Amino acid sequence: MPLLSSIAVIGGGYVGLTTAACFAHLGHDVVCGDNDAEKVRSLSKGEVPVLEEGLPDLVAQGLASRRLRFVLGAAAAASTAEFVFLCVPTPQGANGAADLSIVEDVAREIAPVLHAGSVVVNKSTVPIGSTQLVERLLTEAGAMPGTIGVASNPEFLREGSAVRDFLEPHRVVIGCQETEVAVRVSELYRDLRAPILVTDAASAEMIKYASNAFLATKISFINAIANLCESVHADVREVALGMGYDPRIGFEFLHAGPGYGGSCFPKDVQALLYTADSVDYDFELLRSVHDVNQRQHDRIVAKIAAAAGDTLEGATIAVWGLTFKANTDDLRDSPALAIARRLLEGGARVRAYDPAAGERAAQIVAGLDVVADPYDACVDADVLTVLTEWDELRWLDFERVGGQMRTRHIVDARNLLDPAAMRQKSFVYDGVGR
Ligand code: UGA
Repeated sequence: MPLLSSIAVIGGGYVGLTTAACFAHLGHDVVCGDNDAEKVRSLSKGEVPVLEEGLPDLVAQGLASRRLRFVLGAAAAASTAEFVFLCVPTPQGANGAADLSIVEDVAREIAPVLHAGSVVVNKSTVPIGSTQLVERLLTEAGAMPGTIGVASNPEFLREGSAVRDFLEPHRVVIGCQETEVAVRVSELYRDLRAPILVTDAASAEMIKYASNAFLATKISFINAIANLCESVHADVREVALGMGYDPRIGFEFLHAGPGYGGSCFPKDVQALLYTADSVDYDFELLRSVHDVNQRQHDRIVAKIAAAAGDTLEGATIAVWGLTFKANTDDLRDSPALAIARRLLEGGARVRAYDPAAGERAAQIVAGLDVVADPYDACVDADVLTVLTEWDELRWLDFERVGGQMRTRHIVDARNLLDPAAMRQKSFVYDGVGR
C-alpha cells in the first residue's frame, strides 16, 4: 500500500493544478490554495480554465472523491498539510533574471502556520540557490528553526501533455540535503515507478534550467541547419530523421519552425544567461541559441513578405494558428503572435484563425482580424501562413482554400503540410528548411 499524505499545492496555474490533480489521483489528500477568489470558486465547481488534455477529468474525479479541494490563500492551504508544494510563477524580471517575489511572499505567508515536521517543496522554476533562500525566509517569518524540511523538486511538464508527463515521468528529481526529508518526498511518487534522483538543492535547480536550455539549443540547432538546408537544397525533415535514428541524438525536439516560444524556454534561457553573467561566465553558446531564435522570427516574416511580392504594405495575409504550439490555448510568448504583430506593423491586413485562442488573441493584438473558420481566414489572401502545427489544419479542403485566396501562396512555418500535394494543387509552397 502506498503511504498516503496530506499535500498543499500553492498556485492553481498549469503546474499547480496538474500537480494537485495528479497527486489526488494517486490517492493523496490534496488542498490547492490560490489567491484568486474567482479562480478558487470556478475550480471548486470543476471548471478548469486552461486547455490541458485529461486535466478536467482528473479535477472532477478529485472533487468527487473529496481528495481534492480548492481554498483561498496559501496559508489556508498550508495550515493542515504535511507537504507544501510551491507552484507559483517566477516571471522574467526587467534584467532577465527570474523574479522571485511571489515565491518569497508565499514563504512569508505560510511560515507561521507550518507544523513541525512539514516539508516545503519548491516546484517553481527558481534561480540556483533559491531553496536555501526559502529555508531562510521561512525561519525569518516565524517557522521554528530546524523543524521544517525544504526541498527542490523541479517539474518537467509540457503544456498539452502535462498530465501524462506527471504520471509517466522520465525521472523525478529531488534536491535536498537531508536524507530523511528526501525519502519522504520520494515516497509521494512511489507509485509512478520512475527513476528518482536525489541530489543537492543547487544541482536539482540547475537540472531544470539545463534541461530547458538544452532543449532550446536543440531547436535553435535544427533551425540553423534548416536555414543551411535552404541554401544547399536539402530537406531538414529528412536530415532530422537521419540524425534521430542515432540514440545519442534522438528524434525529439528537432522540428524546425518559427523558433521556440511559450512561458518557459524564452524565460529560462534568459534567466540562465543572467545567472552566467552574475558569476562572470560568458555563456556564448546559450546567447547564440537565443539569437538564432530571434532571427528565426525575422526569417519567417521575410518569407511571407517575399511571397506577398516583396512587400507587406497593403497585402492580405491569412494566419493559421496563434498559440505558442498546438494542443494548448496558451498565447504567452507565442512566436505566431509575434509574427502576426510584425505583419501588421509592416502594413499587412491579417486575418487569423486559431482553434483554441482566437478570441483572446484579438484582445491582445490590436488590428488583428480573428475569424472562427480557417477558410474564412483565406478570403482574398495573398499569402497563407501556418504558424502553429494544429493537426486539424492538415486535413482541410485545399481546393476550397485556394479558391478563397487571391494568389495561391503558402508559407508553412511549421512544415505541417505536404509540399508535393500543395504544389499539385497549384500552390507556391515555402516551408522551413525544405
Ligand atoms: C517546456 C519543456 O518541454 C518542459 O519539459 C518543461 O517542464 C516546461 O517547458 C517548463 O519549463 O515548465 P512547454 O513550454 O510546454 O514545455 O513546451 P514545449 O513542448 O517544450 O515547446 C516549447 C517551444 O518549442 C514551442 O514553441 C514549440 O513549438 C517549440 N518547439 C518544440 C520547436 O520549435 N521544435 C521542436 O522540435 C520542439
